[in-house]
Amino acid sequence: MSILEPREELASIAASLRAYLEWQVDCGSSGIPRRPREARAAAVAVQPTTPGVVTSAPEPTIAEKDDPPAPPLASPSSNVRSPAPPSDVPDSFTPGTLPPIMLAESTMPAPAVRAKPAAPPPVQTAVAPPRPLPVLLSEVSSCTKCGLHETRTNTVFSRGNPEAKLCFVGEAPGADEDAQGLPFVGRAGQLLDKMIKAMGLDPEKDVYVCNIIKCRPPNNRRPEPDEVAMCIPYLHEQIAQVDPKVIVALGNTSVGTLLGTTVGITRVRGTWKLYRGKIPVMPTYHPSYLLRPSPQQSEAKRQAWEDLQAVMKELGLSKPAR
Ligand code: URA
Repeated sequence: MSILEPREELASIAASLRAYLEWQVDCGSSGIPRRPREARAAAVAVQPTTPGVVTSAPEPTIAEKDDPPAPPLASPSSNVRSPAPPSDVPDSFTPGTLPPIMLAESTMPAPAVRAKPAAPPPVQTAVAPPRPLPVLLSEVSSCTKCGLHETRTNTVFSRGNPEAKLCFVGEAPGADEDAQGLPFVGRAGQLLDKMIKAMGLDPEKDVYVCNIIKCRPPNNRRPEPDEVAMCIPYLHEQIAQVDPKVIVALGNTSVGTLLGTTVGITRVRGTWKLYRGKIPVMPTYHPSYLLRPSPQQSEAKRQAWEDLQAVMKELGLSKPAR
């Protein structure tokens, strides 16, 4: 199919239309086929507005009713639909007068381009900027949004360096953390520090450590979904402020919450994901799991080290001698 210039295309359509109408008149017709009123109202057909050419759109034939919707206008030529060939003409006709048609092929003006629908106004997503860490810390320390505030000794916000490129996110404080008001200071924390040092990093200067939940769940139970829901906005603001280059998500609760996944840690660990579409996340085992004796323990430790090596590579850190 050859691509015509808009003026040529319109002239061609007009010629076809004239031939079609002449053919109808030859057949004894005194009107043109019409679609039901509702269908016509619904059809946003091409309405050439050029004076003296066509004052109403050629009525589409039945075949056109089943046409796929017209694509968005990209060029004037894509704006014009050809009338269907006579074979598509339905048997029934609505009596009426032929619309006035003044065809002047040689002086055909350029077709009017259907006005593009006005662009919708930009969606205003009123996202409040993250608050400074001291403000968040202060709010967390007096938070009563969930029942965990009733049993806590201290809230647990973070430790390490807020300027760090690497952020570790655990689940929730345990007994030691609740007592000291700092994350990962118990046995799991000691192992975490060993892992951080094995990466050649300083646990106080080179990383930022925090949790999904800021208060200790009684008996170290898993946080309930409503507790996570109440607490997670703090972490989102924390992460936005710290803006780390990489997050290491420790264990199922952290991975599931940060990434919105229910895929278990054994399947997802070691695979790069994105937090909020922009910060790379490395899911790995929680240090508490690595401390627990099990047939998988040594393999899990090896895998966790593999995951941390991937993090080092991502951060451009050289492999420390082991
Ligand atoms: N486990 C965690 O997930 N976080 C802590 O702070 C301590 C233990």
